[in-house]
Formats: sequence, C-alpha cells, structure tokens
Amino acid sequence: MFTLRQVTLTSITKRAFSSSAVSQAAKVAVLGAAGGIGQPLSLLLKKNNLISHLSLYDIVNTPGVAADLSHINTKAKVTGYVPDNDGLKHAITGADVVVIPAGVPRKPGMTRDDLFLTNAGIVRDLATAVAQYAPKAHLAIISNPVNSTVPIFTEALKKHNVYDPRRVFGVTTLDIVRASRFVSELKDTDPAEAKITVVGGHSGVTIVPLLSQCPFSFAEEELKALTYRIQFGGDEVVKAKAGTGSATLSMAYAAARFTDSLLRAVVNGEEGIIEPTFVKSDLYASDGIEFFASNVELGPDGVKKIHPVGKVSDYEQELINAALPELKKNIEKGIKFAKEN
Ligand code: NAI
Repeated sequence: MFTLRQVTLTSITKRAFSSSAVSQAAKVAVLGAAGGIGQPLSLLLKKNNLISHLSLYDIVNTPGVAADLSHINTKAKVTGYVPDNDGLKHAITGADVVVIPAGVPRKPGMTRDDLFLTNAGIVRDLATAVAQYAPKAHLAIISNPVNSTVPIFTEALKKHNVYDPRRVFGVTTLDIVRASRFVSELKDTDPAEAKITVVGGHSGVTIVPLLSQCPFSFAEEELKALTYRIQFGGDEVVKAKAGTGSATLSMAYAAARFTDSLLRAVVNGEEGIIEPTFVKSDLYASDGIEFFASNVELGPDGVKKIHPVGKVSDYEQELINAALPELKKNIEKGIKFAKEN
C-alpha cells in the first residue's frame, strides 16, 4: 500500500518525467519560413513549449526573420538559413518535424492545380533533401496542390528508400478550422463546440464536409450553401487579397495547431490525439485512391490509426463520388511528375 509520501513522490516523478520529455523537446524546421504563411507560422511555433530548436529555411530573408523571432523570450532557439553554405542541409539535419509552406500561392481565378508546374519542382527538391538529411522526420506538407505534393514527396522518399507512410502528412487542417468557424457563425455557437469532420482532399470538390455527423441540423439550402463555402472558402481570401496571395494567417494558425498535435503525440507521448490529415490510406484503395484525408489518430510513430469515414447521408455520398475521380487525377499527376523528374 502507498503512503501519502510515496504517492506524492510518484506523482512528482511522473511530472518530472513528463517535463523532462518536454525539455528534450523537438527540433522543428520550417521550409518557406520567410513567406506569407511561414512568418506567422514561425511566430506561433516560437510559442510552443515542445520545441527546443526552431530552424527556419527559405531561399531569401530567413536570417532576418530568425533574428527577429530569436528575441522573443520563449524557450526555443531560433536559427535561419538560406541556400548558401549548405543551408538546407543544416536547416533540416536532426529535425523531428519538418513543416513545408514553400512555393507560390494562388492569385484570383487560379485553382490550386494551376500552381502545380511551379510548386511540384520546389517540393521535389525539398523532399530529396529531406530524404538525405532528415530521413526520420515527420513531414507536414502545406504547399499546394496538396493532393499532388504529398504524392510527389512520397515518391522522392521512396527513391531514397526512406519512405514511411506514417510520417508523411498533407496539412488539411484549415478546411476543418474553416468548417468549424462557418458552422458556429451560422448556429451562433462557440467554434470549440462545432467539431466538423471533413474528408477527401484539399481542393474544391475534393473537400467533403460531413455535416450530417455534427450535432447541428441544417435546412437543405443552408446545407448546400455551407458545403460550398467550406469547399471554396479559400477563394474568398484569394479574392479579398486581390492578387497579393491566399490564406496566410488562418493557414498559419491551422498549421501551428497540426504541428502542436503532432508534437504532443510524437514527442510528448500523449494518447488519443486525432487530427484530420491527407495521408496514405486504404479507405478508398479499391477505387484506386492511394491518399485520402480523414480523421487520423496520431501516435509516437506518426499515423497510429486511420478512422473510417463513418455514416454519410445520400448528399454526402454524392459529394464523395464527385471527389474521387478528381482526387485520383491529382494524385496520379503528382506520381507521374515524380517518376519522370
Ligand atoms: P508566399 O509566396 O508568401 O511564401 C512562400 C515562400 O516560399 C516564399 O518566402 C518563398 O521564398 C519560399 N520558397 C520558394 N521556393 C522555395 C524553395 N525552393 N525552398 C524554400 N523556400 C522557397 O506563399 P504563402 O502564401 O506562404 O503560401 C505558400 C504555399 O502554401 C502555397 O503553395 C499555397 O498555395 C499553400 N497554401 C496551402 C494551404 C493549405 O491549406 N494546405 C492554405 C494556404 C496556402
């Protein structure tokens, strides 16, 4: 039987253990760190106690961003690199998590697929470096089109025999953040209570909100308008920014949330952490779809369990049916590029 003193000591030891896990915390690298997403994302990550080293890489301006952030009195050490002097190699070597918002964003009238030509090559080169210098890192890919950049990353890692599907994530968190906010606006509720499941991919019709699974009910017209807004919410920002870019601040918030969840599972060993993300998945493998976004439980090795899509309404089934061919096309385009380049 434990005495009070033993119980107290045990809990202190446990706390000491968990805080020592925190003090051995992670190196997180951000690639594209001087950009519209990269800067606010790096700021939010600088506040994260699970990060001991925040390593910033971009083709320009990273030393300035790093110097600025390094004056904030939180724990993480901040370093900045540009391509000179093997900057990319130094930025990612030893990283536990690499977050990638490198690449060009959309302008009005563009789809995410229109970014393919520019971003595919950027992502392929970064993936090759990750395969060489950070083969064990968990990878959070933000660069669009996510439906294609995740397959490109995957193929590059395979070429170097370092691919582990549990560690490659397409960041779709913003779709869920938007869905939660839009529903809470409509229902006049706290967004924290509006947990919405969104599955599929990360562009237009491939974004499939499963509103029948949330605790609110919607009239038919309301449901259609809300679904459209969640699928094409990014266009609202692109239009409002009038040619100067796409979502950066809300995206930084979403990516910081995803990174924090990943660190809590991987570094801190917390259990039961579930985030939606675009990963290698068997859910629609029989339709020839290799990657799919759904709720995923995260564990010490990355993906622990891919949750099924669950019960869907007839309307949602139609949305899934419309998403699958587009998703398949986007994935195949990424794989083809990676194999040929
Ligand atoms: P941005 O143009 O403001 O920043 C991109 C940064 O990437 C720039 O600083 C640029 O110098 C850097 N970069 C370019 N080539 C690079 C390379 N080879 N290595 C390292 N850095 C490089 O663009 P923004 O707004 O930050 O968007 C970045 C990407 O994120 C875009 O592809 C955009 O479409 C995507 N995005 C993804 C979202 C998602 O939900 N997954 C949401 C919003 C944007």
